Parts: sequence; structure tokens; C-alpha cells
Amino acid sequence: MRTQDAQTLVLCTLADGPLHGYAINTAIERLSGSRLGPGSLYGALNRLEAKGLVEPLEGQGRARPVRITAQGRAVLEREARSMARVSDRVFESVPPDEIHYLDRVAAGRAGRSYKKVMLDALAARPGHTALDLGCGPGTDLGALAEAVAPDSGSGSADGRREDKGTGPCPGRVIGVDISEEMAAQARERTAGLRPVRIRVADMHRLPFADRSADRARTDRALQHVDDPVRVLAEIRRVLRPGGRLVLGEPDWDSLTVDHPDRETSRAYTRFVADRVIRNGTLGRELPRLALAAGFTVPAVLPVVSVFRDVRSADAILGLKRTTERAVAAGYLTDTAARDWLDHLATGPFLAAVTLYVVVAAVPLEIG
Ligand SMILES: C[S@@+](CC[C@H](N)C(=O)[O-])C[C@H]1O[C@@H](n2cnc3c(N)ncnc32)[C@H](O)[C@@H]1O
Repeated sequence: MRTQDAQTLVLCTLADGPLHGYAINTAIERLSGSRLGPGSLYGALNRLEAKGLVEPLEGQGRARPVRITAQGRAVLEREARSMARVSDRVFESVPPDEIHYLDRVAAGRAGRSYKKVMLDALAARPGHTALDLGCGPGTDLGALAEAVAPDSGSGSADGRREDKGTGPCPGRVIGVDISEEMAAQARERTAGLRPVRIRVADMHRLPFADRSADRARTDRALQHVDDPVRVLAEIRRVLRPGGRLVLGEPDWDSLTVDHPDRETSRAYTRFVADRVIRNGTLGRELPRLALAAGFTVPAVLPVVSVFRDVRSADAILGLKRTTERAVAAGYLTDTAARDWLDHLATGPFLAAVTLYVVVAAVPLEIG
């Protein structure tokens, strides 16, 4: 729980039973991350006692325990309800639909930043055949089309474009997605881009000939597949020698959320990495898996997304919904989760997560 109010903090610490001054301050430190100065602590206690919200008990020597009164408990409950309303206002409780969510990621600063790193790393050139595996609603197909077939809106129906005076330029982009809904959306969004084709397919079994593509990318798609090793072998099969694959996948174990209660932040991250995302730590594993699949790995580019605003972070991370699932799965207690969210809702905010952009190349054949 976050509050600047020393009296509310004192009331919180007394909710589970009487404590004396030193123990109250230790509990406050556990709750808020810092102790109250002696003046604030005893000032708060005196004011609470004068209002009848706490009462002293008999004690030994100077250690005089203090207990919350029924009136104090009523005030605390009122305060807790009002803080719950704050977090209700801050966090989304209904998940956005998947396409809207992907659009949101792509439009945000973090999304634009890593997607640019991926596009640059892909080095797609006019004439290339480029695959976007797990293309979703077609988020990146326009930029790929622009790279492999500049001015691509004016191409011929079979995707082969006559460059003005420079001869044929058969640049092609093929978006692949397992979801009919995503593929339909991608088709609609790229209707004016003739070099772009969309296929509904599972990337564990790509419907392409060996060595038929120059470039391939996966953008946060491998984290969801059943078998990333098999997918990498498939991509290796369809890329030509000298071809290049760019993978952009988060490492959810790197998610850090600043909070005085670090254990709850760690438990939240563990839940996301273990239970929310199928391959939650894939980011760090990609270089090893790509090498094992027969690629070289000329570059590993970590991109750290930093969120300084709780609402922008919630739009991507779904903090409240995920926390509720973590409680149901036994990763967090209900109280710890509520306190954690209340603090995040009202204080300065910082969260960060690393996405690895991994460049994998198919070796050229010599001789
Ligand atoms: C997180 S979305 C990313 C979409 C897109 N790359 C983007 O950046 O907006 C992952 C996509 O991978 C697709 N996907 C998951 N498993 C797949 C598979 N085995 N084969 C093909 N696509 C798959 C999903 O349908 C979804 O559209």
C-alpha cells in the first residue's frame, strides 16, 4: 500500500493485532519501503489516540503496545475501499481484443523502437523474398514491402513489379499466420500492396520450398509456439545460403517492476515467465537455439523497454488481470497483490523488460 499519510500507515500495521512503537515502524518499513522518523511516528500515534482510533494497552517498561479500536478499523476500511477505487480507475479490467492489443504495442514508443531495430537488422533489399512468420494483423508487412519492392503499391497482380526503367524486381513479402482471423485482417490491411501475400499456415510446417526465401522474421511469435527448435529448423530449411533471419522475442524473466515489496514483484515476474507465456524466457535462449539449428549469430541486440507511466505499462502488461491470475495460481496472496497494485496505482512508476533482437544467418556454401 502506498500512502503519504503516517496515520493511515500506522493503522494498517495494527490491523492484525497490537504492536509497540518499534514493531510498528518495522512493519511500516516492510509495507512502504522506509521507516517513519521518531517524531512522525509518535506524532501519528498521539493524534490517532486523541481521535479514539487507537488505544494503549498495559505494557512492560517503555514497550507500551497499541491496539486499533473499532472506530479505527472502520476508518481503515473506508481508506482501503477508496484506494481500491483508485486502482480500479487506473488498471484495465477487461482485456483488449487481440488485434487491438497488437496495434497498441506497435504504436507505443517501446514497440516502434524495437521494430525499427528489427527492420534495420533484417537488411531486406529490393528483389528479396521476405517472410514474416506469425505476422498477426499485418503490422510489419508494409515496411517489408517498402524494403523489397519500393513503391510497391504499383506492382502487378502476381507480385512482380516492373521498376521504372531498371528491369524486373520480383520483391515479395509473404505473411504467415496460423490464425484465420489474423490472416484476414492482414489481407485487408495490405490489400493495396501487391507484393504482399498472406498464407494461413503453421510455422512448424512452412508451405515453402527449400532455399526459397532471402529473409525471414518472427516478431514475438516464437514465444507462443509449441516447439521453437522445430520452427528454427523449418526457417533454416526455407532460407537460402546467405539468407538472414531476425528474431525479436522478449525475455519475460527480465521484467522488473519497481516496488518496495520486491518479493511480490519477483513473484509477479515469475508467474508471467512460468505460466502466462509458453516460452517465457525464449529471448535469452535464441542465440543458442539458432546456433544449434545451423545458423551463425552475428548479432544479439537487447532492446529494453522502460515504462514510466503506470497506464502505458498496464496497456501492455495487463497488471491487474495478470495479478489476479497470479493469485489464483498461488504465486501471490490476495493481500500482497492488492497492496502491490495500490502502490503501483498511486506512486511514481517504473517497469522494464528486455526484448532480444537476434540476427541469425545461413552460412554461404563455399565451392
Ligand atoms: C504476439 S502476435 C505478434 C504478431 C505480429 N508479429 C506483430 O508484431 O504484431 C503472435 C502471432 O503469432 C501467431 N502464431 C502463433 N503460433 C503460430 C504458429 N505456430 N504458426 C504461425 N503463426 C503463429 C499468432 O496467431 C499471432 O498472430
